Amino acid sequence: MAGNASYDALLRDTAVALTAAGIDNVRFEARLLLSRAAGLTIEQLISRGPDSAPGAAATTLRELTARRVRREPMAYILGEREFWGLPFKVSPAVLIPRPDSETVIETVLYLLPDRSGKLRILDLGIGSGCLLLSLLREYPQAGGVGIDASDAALAVAKANADALGVEPRARLASGDWRQAGWADRLIDRFGGPFDLLVSNPPYIASATVEGLMPEVAVHEPRLALDGGSDGLAAYRIIAAASSKLVVPGGWVVVEGGEGQAPEIASLFSAAGLAPQPARKDLGGIERVVPAQHL
Ligand SMILES: C[S@@+](CC[C@H](N)C(=O)[O-])C[C@H]1O[C@@H](n2cnc3c(N)ncnc32)[C@H](O)[C@@H]1O
Repeated sequence: MAGNASYDALLRDTAVALTAAGIDNVRFEARLLLSRAAGLTIEQLISRGPDSAPGAAATTLRELTARRVRREPMAYILGEREFWGLPFKVSPAVLIPRPDSETVIETVLYLLPDRSGKLRILDLGIGSGCLLLSLLREYPQAGGVGIDASDAALAVAKANADALGVEPRARLASGDWRQAGWADRLIDRFGGPFDLLVSNPPYIASATVEGLMPEVAVHEPRLALDGGSDGLAAYRIIAAASSKLVVPGGWVVVEGGEGQAPEIASLFSAAGLAPQPARKDLGGIERVVPAQHL
């Protein structure tokens, strides 16, 4: 009987399987999968390449590779994604934090440079918690409220609040902005209004969701993606409630999709806020709309 395959051979087999599934960047991904399956760092894998890998590592690697071949995102397979330099646990209940969303954090730091402020922050649609929890790390005196319509997402956000050491300053609760009276209930329950409202709501037009890459369309939660017929349903609701939810002088900072910034700014303007120029992400796309409640 042939001996166990080497790490290098497993790596090659994995890369071949990923290529056949139409995945890019296969060597990088194959290394990550093998590293997880074998419990070794990438550096260890490189130096031990010709060595025989334990049978259990090969079996685990096959299982992980099968998931990736079904186009499950790497972040769900590994259970973690970095955002703003912090490790966030992720599961299929939450949107995987995107580098573009770091523009929300940058915008807030630009608008509110005093890090010692006792800010009261509201995050609508908290998901993994990447926005609110990163802000709580940046503003050590701040307190935050995060709501989400998904209880499974809230459980992930709570685990992240714990792991990042900000749990005592984060109040996370179930809430749905489609329900009448949601903003009044939120203010009553958590003692609003707030100094800062952040949100990265679902903003993909319903008809477009199915056409997205399978990692997104099949595996990420529809509730996190589908923004209604024109993608702007959540912004209409959030804009209409924003002068109630945010103190005079306070800020709303929302993320939007490519090309949506002018319409989002108009919605906040119509709601009586003063939108500022949109802020661009690293790809040069107008990603974040800030608006002040004057
Ligand atoms: C695009 S994801 C953003 C998650 C996270 N803030 C981030 O930036 O990665 C939108 C989030 O809004 C939540 N959501 C969608 N519709 C909602 C609603 N009607 N009320 C409350 N939360 C909602 C989803 O469950 C999801 O977690």
